[in-house]
Amino acid sequence: MMPVMEPLSRILAETRHRGRRLLGEARWLAGVATLPPRVALFQLRARRLARRSQDRFSLTSVTRPPDLRVLLALARGRTRTVELGTATGWTAISLALADPRRRVISYDVVERPEPQRYLKLVGPSVRERIELVTGPGSRGPERAGHFDLLYIDSSHEREQTIAEVLAWRPALGPGATIVFDDYPHPDYPGIREAISELGLDGEERGTLFIHTVDRAG
Ligand SMILES: C[S@@+](CC[C@H](N)C(=O)[O-])C[C@H]1O[C@@H](n2cnc3c(N)ncnc32)[C@H](O)[C@@H]1O
Repeated sequence: MMPVMEPLSRILAETRHRGRRLLGEARWLAGVATLPPRVALFQLRARRLARRSQDRFSLTSVTRPPDLRVLLALARGRTRTVELGTATGWTAISLALADPRRRVISYDVVERPEPQRYLKLVGPSVRERIELVTGPGSRGPERAGHFDLLYIDSSHEREQTIAEVLAWRPALGPGATIVFDDYPHPDYPGIREAISELGLDGEERGTLFIHTVDRAG
């Protein structure tokens, strides 16, 4: 009995594993299909490159298509955007691709080689609008000027998140949007705690929390 059951259970386990992978891939593709065509094409090419180069960090850490769609909708008409937490650069590149007038500054504490690899998938007119800064998001802007969208997807820790909002708040114009990633995530209570500590109101969409800076300034 055992010699038959063992391979059978292995086959079943492998089939289940393959089924889960296919389902995950189908869900990802369905999400990508809802993105603007230029962004969708980049995400498809980046994912293929990530698989080929075994870049597991990209495959697991980048903002997922449903949240990216919400972020891009919020960014519509906004041309001075900041991302805290570059990782491998997919979201910074997607933001720049979605609007040819948009500039994106993205901060990360770690200087990784991956963003340069994925930047090669887009043309110079996109690359030149993306500035990568190595340093903590709480450092705040390098130069004077106003920004209209701040996307926080960095340490996911309470103190850092509070420090980031306080550092960027003076550079956000009235009506600017702050988007926090992973708001409901049970592993990252620091984000909810920071938002509550700062007394920010807003709405939840998917895993994002969206706060609009008071129009009165
Ligand atoms: C979830 S990943 C960001 C994913 C990226 N936004 C995307 O969608 O492709 C989080 C990143 O935040 C970076 N990070 C952690 N603490 C940070 C901090 N204090 N300031 C800036 N970046 C930070 C990490 O190195 C990591 O690359």
